[in-house]
Amino acid sequence: MKLLTVELKIFNSYKNQSEAAAALMVNVVLNKPDALCCLATGDTPKLAYRLFVERIKTEKIDVSNCAFVGLDEWLGVPPKNSGSCSYYLYEHVFNPLQLPFNQIFLFDALTENEASSCAKMDMFINLRGGIDVMITGIGMNGHIGFNEPGTDEYSHAHVMALHNTTKTIGQKYFATKTAIHKGITQGLATVMESKKLLMLANGKAKAQIVQKTLEEPVSVSLPSTFIKKHPGSYLFIDKEAAQNLL
Ligand code: PGA
Repeated sequence: MKLLTVELKIFNSYKNQSEAAAALMVNVVLNKPDALCCLATGDTPKLAYRLFVERIKTEKIDVSNCAFVGLDEWLGVPPKNSGSCSYYLYEHVFNPLQLPFNQIFLFDALTENEASSCAKMDMFINLRGGIDVMITGIGMNGHIGFNEPGTDEYSHAHVMALHNTTKTIGQKYFATKTAIHKGITQGLATVMESKKLLMLANGKAKAQIVQKTLEEPVSVSLPSTFIKKHPGSYLFIDKEAAQNLL
């Protein structure tokens, strides 16, 4: 199997890392005014999104032809719940940019028809000609979105049962203890088909999973290792997350 080189950048601080992530996103939308961006949620990309929004506004960059899709969502958690991925993306990106609904397509967490909801996401992405840039974090178990260990390598949007690690760690996003069992997510094939993949990790808690991602063979048992097979991938980490590599 041919492994391509990940563009690995180690930054002195979370701020520098986030500035570089925002710059990469800005470049994508400058080079392709109708870019489709796929956005993760979580603690990791928060500052990158704030800086991206700031640059779009201060530099008056036109994003009116861009579109944004979510990487994933907690199935069954309504968008008004502040722990939902939808709430997060509106709070950190869509509302600050005053994006109209027709530029946004998110997973329907309350769907009664999971297959149709997934098919609609895939269709939206296909109609836009694919994802130009996908921003992801790395889960403590190596998940990308809700592609948990053991995910199907050839999957597009799908529903996946969450691992206990994800259920436990995921509580940090919710104001009160919330039942989370399944995630609806872009699939690993969708990740691999995105033109650029920017994976972010910061803090020493991520040092071990970053090391494993880079050192272990590419396998669905550690989905984050697929970054090494992606032809346009970037891994931006801060020096704490890089501590096992140095
Ligand atoms: P985090 O989540 O950014 O909150 O660490 C990352 C992930 O689970 O993908």
